[in-house]
Amino acid sequence: MAEVELAIRGGVVVTAEGMQRADVGVSGGRVVALAESIRDARRIVEADGLWVMPGGVDSHCHIEEPQPGGGANEESFVTASRSAFAGGTTSAVCFVPQWKGGGLLERLADYEARARHAMLDHSFHQIITDPTERVIEEELPQVVAKGIRSLKVFLTYEPLHVSDAEYLRVLAAARKHQCLVTVHCENYDAINWRIRALLAAGLTAPKYHAWARPPVVEREATHRAIALAELLDQPIQIFHVSCAEAAEEIARAQARGVKVWGETCPQYLTLTAAHMDRPGFEGAKFMCSPAPRDAAEHERVWEMIRRGVLDVVSSDHCAFSFEGPHGKRQNGTERFDLVPNGIPGFAARLPLLFSEGVSKGRLTPEQFVRLGCSNPARMMGLWPRKGGIHIGADADIALWDPARERVLSNALMQHAIDYTPYEGMTVKGWPVRVFRRGEEVMREDEVTAAPGSGRFLPRAPYPLIAPRGVLPNGFPAAG
Ligand code: URP
Ligand code: ZN
Ligand code: ZN
Repeated sequence: MAEVELAIRGGVVVTAEGMQRADVGVSGGRVVALAESIRDARRIVEADGLWVMPGGVDSHCHIEEPQPGGGANEESFVTASRSAFAGGTTSAVCFVPQWKGGGLLERLADYEARARHAMLDHSFHQIITDPTERVIEEELPQVVAKGIRSLKVFLTYEPLHVSDAEYLRVLAAARKHQCLVTVHCENYDAINWRIRALLAAGLTAPKYHAWARPPVVEREATHRAIALAELLDQPIQIFHVSCAEAAEEIARAQARGVKVWGETCPQYLTLTAAHMDRPGFEGAKFMCSPAPRDAAEHERVWEMIRRGVLDVVSSDHCAFSFEGPHGKRQNGTERFDLVPNGIPGFAARLPLLFSEGVSKGRLTPEQFVRLGCSNPARMMGLWPRKGGIHIGADADIALWDPARERVLSNALMQHAIDYTPYEGMTVKGWPVRVFRRGEEVMREDEVTAAPGSGRFLPRAPYPLIAPRGVLPNGFPAAG
């Protein structure tokens, strides 16, 4: 075998397909060899029995997302990359915003400029909040031509939510341009109804965030999102599924052959509504949407993962510090309905999934790789370049110590945010070295990648998200 640039020797290679003792050879940033023994290498890294896993793919995270009122998320592409590498993730798909009344292209140009500072490899989802004729007919084709192949819609949130008519317009456009649609499923009117009633009763603390959006509002919107996608024969992914009720809707549709997939996040496997009931305003640290449920629900979500109904675990890292002008009190109040939604979770995602999953016997190591690396790559059209360790794949590799115990702390997360909701939790299993395209970018918590070294990942059409060709009466009601 010709000399390789880098050999990772003596590890146990873990992929979605299995575990094997093998050396990994890397040249030109790609995996070029998997063999019992690779001796001829310019650089040798001794894995010493560590698990050699694909770098994580986080297909749902909010990085430096500009906000309608000016400014952007506190988490910059540089701090997000640092945090991602610290937790074993090497690629991410984040969001270009659209604001009602505005277009897509100006926002995309701004976001591309921000992303040039990234160290992790990245692709974009396009958020659609206002699918006007100009946006759909003139701008969207130009966005897709850049390799952005997933459109995100919110069925709730002021001022982002779309009506059913607008959602249908986005589904039709996605079908025409061969995009995936990803959906935030909660019922806007039902939540606002509950919020008004809670405020009228004087119930304003963080814990009422969960009261305002119980599982039924997620189940209803999930059902509706799937039904309308089925009407137009457009594949969709349901984002951040928090409960079995919503997952059951996905399972039923999957059994009918509908192309719908479900994603969940570590917060729905570890956090509960009780966290939002901590004294004072502390509960705001756990406020995200859908709201965290309870321990029994966690087990039901695990079961949905094991059944394959939920097949991706993303972070939905959407971070606001607790303190400060961009923090949880940024709207000048502690009233639950005015507290920004979202929690940090980039670095914690894979360690929590590994620890709660593999270390506690709920998942096999192969399932862990599928949920955190391979499936998100497949779902987003990044496979086979990302998410696996095979000949030709980018050499994105995390060396895991399955026995290493860490107590999660904000410092370990290496993000720009002043807290982690997982403070004090012990995890077993930790990434000790990370390589991105063959370059070592993290070793023992020290991130060494240079800002700007990340690459944009354009996405071409891929078979997984092609429509089935199953339409009511065979009639393509596209317009
Ligand atoms: O609370 C959350 N999840 N905020 C992030 C935005 C979203 O809904 O994905
Ligand atoms: Zn969402
Ligand atoms: Zn999100």
